[in-house]
Amino acid sequence: MAAASMLGCAGARRRSENGTPWRPAAGVRPTPGSRELGPLEVSPLGLGCMSMNSGNYNPPMDRHEMIRLMHHAVDRGVTYFDTAEAYGPFVNEELVGEALAPYKGKVVIGTKFGFDIDYATGRRTGGLNSRPAHIRRVADASLRRLRLEAIDLFYQHRVDPTVPIEDVAGAVKDLIAEGKVRHFGLSEPGMKTLRRAHAVQPVAVVQNEYSLLWRGPEAEELAIFEELGIGLVAWSPIGLGFLTGTIDEHTRFDRPGYTDYRLTNPLFTPEALRANMPLVHLLRDWARRKDSTPAQIALAWILAQRPWIVPIPGTTNPQHLDENLGAVAVEFTPEELRELNAQAGRVVVHGERLRKELLVMSGREAPPPTRDRR
Ligand SMILES: NC(=O)c1ccc[n+]([C@@H]2O[C@H](COP(=O)([O-])OP(=O)(O)OC[C@H]3O[C@@H](n4cnc5c(N)ncnc54)[C@H](OP(=O)(O)O)[C@@H]3O)[C@@H](O)[C@H]2O)c1
Repeated sequence: MAAASMLGCAGARRRSENGTPWRPAAGVRPTPGSRELGPLEVSPLGLGCMSMNSGNYNPPMDRHEMIRLMHHAVDRGVTYFDTAEAYGPFVNEELVGEALAPYKGKVVIGTKFGFDIDYATGRRTGGLNSRPAHIRRVADASLRRLRLEAIDLFYQHRVDPTVPIEDVAGAVKDLIAEGKVRHFGLSEPGMKTLRRAHAVQPVAVVQNEYSLLWRGPEAEELAIFEELGIGLVAWSPIGLGFLTGTIDEHTRFDRPGYTDYRLTNPLFTPEALRANMPLVHLLRDWARRKDSTPAQIALAWILAQRPWIVPIPGTTNPQHLDENLGAVAVEFTPEELRELNAQAGRVVVHGERLRKELLVMSGREAPPPTRDRR
């Protein structure tokens, strides 16, 4: 397939004003295919940009290298890039904005609001803030940092237990009417809250954790997304690196110069890592069988679950990016998928996926609309 026609179908937005034809750099083969993500059409895998300079799993990386990495991703056909105001905070949006400025209108950038950040110091208070006036302020600041006239996908990062979701959805609806935002998203919402938000302003995409390490969305959420026509962006799809087979019970996360988030994540204690190694062994077995790698099997497994799920593995390494994109070529027959699902289903994952204070923010329901609370 010619590069231009491939981009035509894997390109940025299904109902967008497609700009001038864009071609990948000579010699770089784009990753084939596209996925419908709610009303958007994007590449089957997106790129999580969080760890590039926010210090989550590595020290902030060289700016030029990360810009080159994002350009390489574009050349490989990646059309969804994920960031948030809270990553850094601010600096991740700035980096993504700088890197993707040449591709305006040809890629989709998702960003998020909703953590309470002191704008004077850039310090996160630990709380949430989805008050409508704050959402408007964040939108304007994110637009500046991302160098955009409109945010493609604007997610509430976590449900604010003090703000009715109708007020949040209403604020985003106003931003859409003003042309500052194109689509509304929620991350880790409670399902009643999702339906209430959707009734005010259609939710295009939910961004939730989903991987072989955390299969929570299978209980009820996938069916609800399907019913409502909402796409799912799967965060931490390779289990914060665990599902790549490069981490074991001897891996330590107390590194000098930055705080690796995994140091305090219950899944990354030596005991949890040891207990969960059967999952890595399973992925290695399948990687041998499918002539691929554990990371590719972990991602291909997600892609095989539903055609409207887009995993966004995060990386700072171009080889890892290429390896991850290789997942698109890994296909399972229905029998293979049944077998892999059954085997993975027998593996009991030990440890909570998040620390308690973070876990309570997931699946939370917003308070009732103001008029009902009087
Ligand atoms: N909505 C939310 O609340 C939320 C929460 C967390 C994350 N996110 C989004 O989801 C994205 C992805 O999640 P994540 O970064 O937390 O987890 P992830 O994608 O599951 O894992 C990232 C880790 O895996 C490593 N890695 C990636 N590919 C690899 C490969 N092929 N071989 C070996 N190691 C590899 C990366 O290191 P290298 O840099 O060395 O490759 C990094 O340490 C983030 O960037 C962010 O945009 C959203």
